[in-house]
Amino acid sequence: MREILKSTEPEIKKAAIALKNGFLVAFPTETVYGLGADATDNIATKRIYEVKGRPFSQPLIVHFSNFEKMKNWAREIPDFAFKLANDFWPGPLTLILKRGSLATDLITGSTNNIGVRVPAHPVALNLLKQFEMLGGEGIAAPSANRFGAVSPTSVDDVIDDIGNFLGGDDFVIDGGQCEIGIESTIVDCTSKFPRILRFGVVTETMICNSLNLNRLHNFKLTHFTHPGSSKKHYQPKAKVVLNTKPKTGDGLIAMENINTPDGVTRLLSPSDLHFFARGLYRSFRQADKLGINRIVVIVPEGDDFALAIQERLLKASM
Ligand code: TXA
Ligand code: MG
Repeated sequence: MREILKSTEPEIKKAAIALKNGFLVAFPTETVYGLGADATDNIATKRIYEVKGRPFSQPLIVHFSNFEKMKNWAREIPDFAFKLANDFWPGPLTLILKRGSLATDLITGSTNNIGVRVPAHPVALNLLKQFEMLGGEGIAAPSANRFGAVSPTSVDDVIDDIGNFLGGDDFVIDGGQCEIGIESTIVDCTSKFPRILRFGVVTETMICNSLNLNRLHNFKLTHFTHPGSSKKHYQPKAKVVLNTKPKTGDGLIAMENINTPDGVTRLLSPSDLHFFARGLYRSFRQADKLGINRIVVIVPEGDDFALAIQERLLKASM
């Protein structure tokens, strides 16, 4: 039986040692739970793909606590990437850079680039620091769910999704409910100008303010072209339909000012976008547990952070 660890110093140390010894550790971040392995250990990182049921073409994000580590994983890092790292790390931002000396094909999906992030969650940071003190260079961690499904935002979600695929020497660290609830913003820094590949709580406006730019050339919400942008993503078992009138038996996710018709199960009624994001995956999972077949979502309008929610909903409904 794999063990669930509490987020205390000695337990986190135990997890760091397990990682260094080639085992897997699922851990909380401020966005979603990650499934971690020593990013320099090919056997361990390969197991991430097996546990997730994920194709090798989908690259992994490398996490570290110390900005200096970036230079071991990436090369020709542009000034604007350093500026973004400086302004938003530790935090929910992943930078895509040209791959450096430590990057393996397993991590990069055999592409020329690598994704890196310094997470802000105190447990994640503590784990990374302990791991680095043992000589670790970085922890590769995708979201700790099966491929194509909804990311986990609590330890129960992690156990539900991948508990049966973990071994006796792997660990799961309980860090409570994730604050943000959806994955980090991904910014491609491999060209002359930065481009958002996945929207998140670090928004275009925040990035433009940091870099003194007017606009970015982001991917459009109707075209999904970056790796991992396969159509089927973030999907519960229930069918997700957008902006339609819910029928008897449906689940409903909408801002709190929208009413719930008779016979419909209200799954989420957030008062703002942050609550919407935080509760979204949890309410998808709740619908599945309740045996609801169809979830109607009234998509919040707007730019910036609303785009992050719109992106998840669009893919969930495909
Ligand atoms: O918030 C997050 O980013 C969470 C936590 C655990 O850090 N991680 C996460 O990882 O969401 P994952 O693997 O579930 O999603 C990362 C996405 C994938 O779509 C992957 O294809 C893309 O980032 N990605 C990773 N490395 C890349 C690279 N070198 N080039 C392009 N896309 C990359
Ligand atoms: Mg994922």
